[in-house]
Amino acid sequence: MHIEGTIKLADIIHHDHDLIPVINRFGIQLGFGDQTIEEICEQKEINLEFFLTIINAFHDPQYFPKKHLQSFPASMLVDYLRKAHQYYLKDMIPEVESLINQMAEGEGLNKEISLMMKKFYEEYVTEFSTHTAREENEVYPYILELEAALESNVVSDSLKDKMHNYSITDYELEHDNVEDKLYDLKNIIIKYLPASPSDSLRFQILKDLFALEKDLNEHARIEDMILVPKVEAMEYTLKNRK
Ligand SMILES: [Fe+2]
Ligand SMILES: [Fe+2]
Repeated sequence: MHIEGTIKLADIIHHDHDLIPVINRFGIQLGFGDQTIEEICEQKEINLEFFLTIINAFHDPQYFPKKHLQSFPASMLVDYLRKAHQYYLKDMIPEVESLINQMAEGEGLNKEISLMMKKFYEEYVTEFSTHTAREENEVYPYILELEAALESNVVSDSLKDKMHNYSITDYELEHDNVEDKLYDLKNIIIKYLPASPSDSLRFQILKDLFALEKDLNEHARIEDMILVPKVEAMEYTLKNRK
């Protein structure tokens, strides 16, 4: 299904509820009544084209209009990616953590396994936080600086230095996959935890992990396939301008 602006947002959510956190990232909270996407975007001053492109890309993995997505300002992409980080760090990760703690304490898992699960997850969170902090503190600001330089036609000496010492290709090479460990964690729960009389917490954790993994895959796809080529083009233009 291709999502268009004339469709009611509530109908889209009934069709694909995985989109709830994605629309939330744009500042749309539940409780929007019967309004269409166009109406909501207008009211909230959201760029309709960008919104539709992102939710279609998330909804349908076959739909990934690289060129079209690259046509949006880098600042718009960065803003979206930052909000996604907030959602992972402030909502999803603590939620899974609290479920893992409940499981470790409540279901008679032996101490060793409980500790292993907690430790594994802690390591994941540390790895993930380092990954996002680097993007937020180094990579995204660099991209915004490039965009500002292109707009103003002024390239500061410090930006010249940065472009010289660091290019987005370095980021691309180092951009590690933060989803791998989630796959391992799912496998521990699916394959190796001793059977328990009640699986409901485990189902909930798995459901969250699958949702987080899907969201992260989409996030990384935008970073690798949209942001990086866009920034490469910006660097190229700036380097060849003078
Ligand atoms: Fe990111
Ligand atoms: Fe990333």
